Amino acid sequence: MCGIVGYIGKKEASPILIDGLKKLEYRGYDSAGIAILSEGKINVIKTKGRLADLEERFKGKIPKGNIGIGHTRWATHGAPSDENSHPHMSMSENIAVVHNGIIENYMELKKDLEKKGYKFRSETDTEVLAHLAEMYYDGNLVDTLIKVIKDVRGSFAIGLICKDNPNELVAVRKDSPLIVGLGENENFIASDIPAILEHTRKIYLLNDLEFVHLTSDKVELFTIDKKPINKNIFNVEWDVDAAEKGGFDHFMLKEMYEQPKVINNTITPRIKNGLIEFDDINFTADDLKNISRAFIVACGSAYHAGMVGKYLIENLARIPVEVDIASEFRYRNPIIDDKTLVIIVSQSGETADTLAALRDAKKKGARVLAVVNVVGSSIAREADDVLYTWAGPEIAVASTKGYTTQLMAMYMIALKFGVLSGNLSEKDAKHLINELLTVPEKLEVLLGKIDSIKELAKKYHNRRDVFYIGRGLDHMVALEGSLKLKEISYIHSEAYAAGELKHGTIALIEEGTVVVALATQNSLFEKTLSNIKEVKARGGTVIALAQEGNDSVKEIADEVIVLPKIDDRLSSVLAVVPLQLFAYYCAIDKGCDVDKPRNLAKSVTVE
Ligand code: G6P
Repeated sequence: MCGIVGYIGKKEASPILIDGLKKLEYRGYDSAGIAILSEGKINVIKTKGRLADLEERFKGKIPKGNIGIGHTRWATHGAPSDENSHPHMSMSENIAVVHNGIIENYMELKKDLEKKGYKFRSETDTEVLAHLAEMYYDGNLVDTLIKVIKDVRGSFAIGLICKDNPNELVAVRKDSPLIVGLGENENFIASDIPAILEHTRKIYLLNDLEFVHLTSDKVELFTIDKKPINKNIFNVEWDVDAAEKGGFDHFMLKEMYEQPKVINNTITPRIKNGLIEFDDINFTADDLKNISRAFIVACGSAYHAGMVGKYLIENLARIPVEVDIASEFRYRNPIIDDKTLVIIVSQSGETADTLAALRDAKKKGARVLAVVNVVGSSIAREADDVLYTWAGPEIAVASTKGYTTQLMAMYMIALKFGVLSGNLSEKDAKHLINELLTVPEKLEVLLGKIDSIKELAKKYHNRRDVFYIGRGLDHMVALEGSLKLKEISYIHSEAYAAGELKHGTIALIEEGTVVVALATQNSLFEKTLSNIKEVKARGGTVIALAQEGNDSVKEIADEVIVLPKIDDRLSSVLAVVPLQLFAYYCAIDKGCDVDKPRNLAKSVTVE
């Protein structure tokens, strides 16, 4: 949610900020702005809309100056508008701030400040930060920011500049990501690494309530008690190309095509002597005996991966698993003790509700295993153990490779626990692992059939409703397929357990309603076929997915997507890819902005 970039150095700040913000647009894109400090004045340019609209405002004349902060917004308090865009200035325009997160007590702070005569120009919670900073300003920016933070409740990453301190930039974070980039005669702050990777690979990953003071040649870190902090430099090993489109029309398309490769990266290094081994996670058979049950907690697509995880862990390891949406888990007082394992799943490792669930689980004594993509993210740092999915940067808002690599992690955990618990023989585990290793090449086959999916999208992209049905693992994939479609094409869509459709929702099926029926589970094939017939009998148009060899579906369904043969337990990871592509091409045919769908953001760092 919202992207922050800050620069201090010898170069022109504006282009660096704009380029950085472009890399962060996935975090929010309903407004954008920059504040540049030069010649004793802060020049703020901001606008509702995308970064392209901001550049339009410059009309070729970018503001000059070597220090600045920039922001791209995903609105929480106050609609997207020029006034509500960041940066926000203090009343006398001495101080400018950018903020990501939510100031929960902003109403009371605002009332107090108004009583003291401060005039507000926006409806945002952020503006209180600017006025508070002006009120507390005593010449020292770190002291000022510490005083501000002591007054506020909530989550934040903040960057602040002041016209009377023309060679300084200060920042702080709590429950919202912020990193510091260390350059030669220049330094940076940013919400995420891609924003500054062009300039430096040396990063400080800030922890909560760490304050940072930057000049062009020095970076100092402090606690809230102003004690200096020594921090290790994190060296970024991946390449800037990984965060570029590389010739594809959209990040989403590129990321879908990357799936065979990244899935291979996720699993292959974890296979030793034909079985799953996690180098950094020390889980013994005794540890597992001590676990009476597990929770998998996540949001969005990661939650859907967690549903598959429950199915697999219960089947292969016979450990009871509950799957929870993170925003619900936190407030339902789940039964957790030191015999509980909590598996947290998050691509970004920064989702606010998921992070809060992790903290809650740890407080209650659970062991926390995180399945995360972004190395060094908050969730990765706070969990007891981390299983990285190694998918590389995922930029498109709708998760694709992030999700399929999470599925791989679920398979690996279930296989590992299955063998450790003695419920899965090494022979059966090796068979499944061998099957797992065929997934990348089978995905290549599916990606090769892109033209047939394009055709389907052409035919059906203008339908009002699309339902997804499936049984067992197919149901969980149906949920993900349906989410992809609604996220990026805005077609109304719902997913149902195939056998449940007739308990109400079938009332919505009429002549021409599209139903995507997943029938990839051989063991449930006949049952799903009956459900497809129920849909056909009401005039529905059925697009079915089935494994090679199950030809009878062709006689009933209107369209069939054939998947390469695979063990039933693994078909989910194959089935989801044509569904991702279908959603993508429907969105393209409808003229939607695939990488930046309306109202969404990639990294949801607010509750
Ligand atoms: C947002 C994204 C989804 C993602 C969810 C969880 O809503 O738009 O694509 O699945 O957050 O994100 P996480 O980074 O925790 O996996």
